[in-house]
Amino acid sequence: ALVFYVTHDGSKFEADVPTGNSVMEGAVNNGIDGILAECGGALSCATCHIYVDEAWTAKVEPPSEMETDMLEVVSDPKENSRLSCQIMMKDELDGLVVHLPESQF
Ligand code: FES
Repeated sequence: ALVFYVTHDGSKFEADVPTGNSVMEGAVNNGIDGILAECGGALSCATCHIYVDEAWTAKVEPPSEMETDMLEVVSDPKENSRLSCQIMMKDELDGLVVHLPESQF
């Protein structure tokens, strides 16, 4: 399913992310900068912070308690903050738009 990654300066990258892969893996596997993912998806680094586009927040499953805890340490947290390694792709999310925070560059 397609994911669009929008950088803080407005550049837009797209990646075809297979079902079951995370939004983080989609960026890393396609060379899209802005998601560091230092822990490789183990929910311990919070360097895969993204903002889910407002149009998509209702469609993405809510964060687990552990993710919510981790989101407290990201810089510039917002309502729509998520850790991209915890968002798994599925058909319903085809066309998902996420915004990359400036601080991860
Ligand atoms: Fe480390 Fe997501 S990749 S918390």
